[in-house]
Amino acid sequence: MPSPRALPLPPTSFDGKMRDPMDNASARDDRRAPLLRRCVKIFRRQRRLFAGVALCMLVLGLLQLPGPILTMRVIDSVTSRGAPLSIGGISLMCAALLGALLSVRLISILQRFTLEKFKYRIIFSMQRALFSHALKLPAAHYLRQSHGYMMSRVNEDPYRLQGILADTIVSILGDVITLAIGVGFLFYVHWRMALVSVIVLPLLVVLFTRLRTSLKADFRRVQEQSAKVSRFLGESLSNVLTIKLLTLEALSRRQLAGNLSELIRQRFHILRRRMTYENLIAVLTGVVPIAILWYGAIEIVNGRLSVGAFIAFNGFLAYLYRPAEGIVIALLSMQGSIAAVERIFEILDTPPERYGPRAGGRPRWANGGTSPAIAFCEVSFRYPGKKAWVLRDVCFEAARGEMLAVSGPSGVGKTTLLSLIPRLVEQQRGMVLIDGVDHRQIHLLSLRRRVAVVSQETRLFSGSILENLRRADRQVTVESAREALRIAAADEFVDELPEGLATELGETGLNLSAGQRQRLLIARAILRDPAILILDEATASLDAELEATVLANLRAWQGQRTVIAVSHRPAIHEFAHRSLELRDGKVVPRVALDPRCQLEESPRSLLSSPRILPIVN
Ligand SMILES: Nc1ncnc2c1ncn2[C@@H]1O[C@H](COP(=O)(O)OP(=O)(O)OP(=O)(O)O)[C@@H](O)[C@H]1O
Ligand SMILES: [Mg+2]
Repeated sequence: MPSPRALPLPPTSFDGKMRDPMDNASARDDRRAPLLRRCVKIFRRQRRLFAGVALCMLVLGLLQLPGPILTMRVIDSVTSRGAPLSIGGISLMCAALLGALLSVRLISILQRFTLEKFKYRIIFSMQRALFSHALKLPAAHYLRQSHGYMMSRVNEDPYRLQGILADTIVSILGDVITLAIGVGFLFYVHWRMALVSVIVLPLLVVLFTRLRTSLKADFRRVQEQSAKVSRFLGESLSNVLTIKLLTLEALSRRQLAGNLSELIRQRFHILRRRMTYENLIAVLTGVVPIAILWYGAIEIVNGRLSVGAFIAFNGFLAYLYRPAEGIVIALLSMQGSIAAVERIFEILDTPPERYGPRAGGRPRWANGGTSPAIAFCEVSFRYPGKKAWVLRDVCFEAARGEMLAVSGPSGVGKTTLLSLIPRLVEQQRGMVLIDGVDHRQIHLLSLRRRVAVVSQETRLFSGSILENLRRADRQVTVESAREALRIAAADEFVDELPEGLATELGETGLNLSAGQRQRLLIARAILRDPAILILDEATASLDAELEATVLANLRAWQGQRTVIAVSHRPAIHEFAHRSLELRDGKVVPRVALDPRCQLEESPRSLLSSPRILPIVN
């Protein structure tokens, strides 16, 4: 009877919907596009909110115009330079000024709300994109980077975008509008004085370009150091019991203080640099009003300028230098955000796991149930950056309905060998065949749905026991959960808990014993209804009697499923059909306990066997 799991993979696996998201052309184009264009592409999704903010800015800029103009008109009329105004006219102008003031406040509130909404929508969408990409990164990525470090990059870096969003793009937009209005009006009032006023602007540009590059590198260093602090905190707090037992409290405090003082040193380095340049800019822009005072006074004495126009000119001078200074300072703060954006894109550009079948096309399954469930064909593997091979030309196979025991000295590569099956790591040479198909040709999600792993790490999720079991499959009923718990010999202890299946587990299930956690994990794996069950020392924390019960139950439950169990304990060899040993990177057979499960062909012969059909397009 063919195994129910030997059927072709679900059609959704190959219908294109679950394609590797980074394989599409637009994602590849994105990686090549300049940073600014990529940012604009993200901001464009919130263009309505952005347009709202820009409109508010424009109106606010225009509402600043009446102030100096009306002031000039009133002063000139009372100093008898311009046409005289009646008391009614003056009152009307003051009422208009009051109206402008109130409108400015109202629109500022509207602008602030729209801006915050715009900002948070973008920040949250970046966090979502980063989290979703972080889940798609190959497991190998997490072998190199700590979780705390990744958490800082996913959680904190998007917040650094605020600099770009609020302090920069939006304030620059407002400043540019004010600057344009200011420059126009200055030239309208007195073009010669206006020329004197704008002469400092090119100097500001030079100062900015000098500082920009070095500041960006400084910001990047600060962000890297801040991620280091997060990593240290995450690691220390999750290992707090070990720290206590090893009495490492003082050392940990010193390490944190060292990390923090380095962070402070780097921040002050940036501050010193910024203060130097900002004060230079302030002096430059402060010199101009003095020059204008001198030049304007001479112009008034010579009768070429009215007092009202002079006051208005000085009023508009603020429209020139405040925004010009604002633009330079905002562009400088933007360097920090640009460094954060670069870090965000670094993660988004890291190629994810390959999801789809490599060569494209739909794999045809080997005929019926004759192919072994798992076959390793001359598989070699070494960890990235390491010279030594952990596995060398490993060949073995496991049939459907077989329980295979794997043993071997600690550190020989048993966990690594098992990690190859669900493609947590990928071999550099050779092939792993699942039901006769190269497993790289199977969609990753389909592959992982067929394989359940109970690893050496016994971490659960927070939530109730039932919720944890439902992580295997959301449709799990209370009855099926109970049955799985029975197989995993976990029913008794769960029943004894005051709230049974509804018992809340602390974070990562820490309020259970290691053996209880292991049994829950076995139950969860059973509920996935896998074709292949991998147990990596999954019963190591159980006493001999419980271990025997679990293994006997698994044999009874197994049916056509394949079970591979790594264990150092002798019990496993009593229950397994066959036992293999991993030694010096090679798999060698131990005594075969059940002759029925001896396989006729060696995996090497499988490579040229007609049972393995080619991939058809
Ligand atoms: N992420 C990694 N990066 C580099 N080398 C690794 C990594 N994980 C494991 N190794 C190395 O690979 C070898 C095999 O490790 P593996 O965890 O597969 O051993 P194991 O047989 O499962 O050991 P144990 O019985 O102690 O669980 C070891 O020498 C180990 O140092
Ligand atoms: Mg191991």
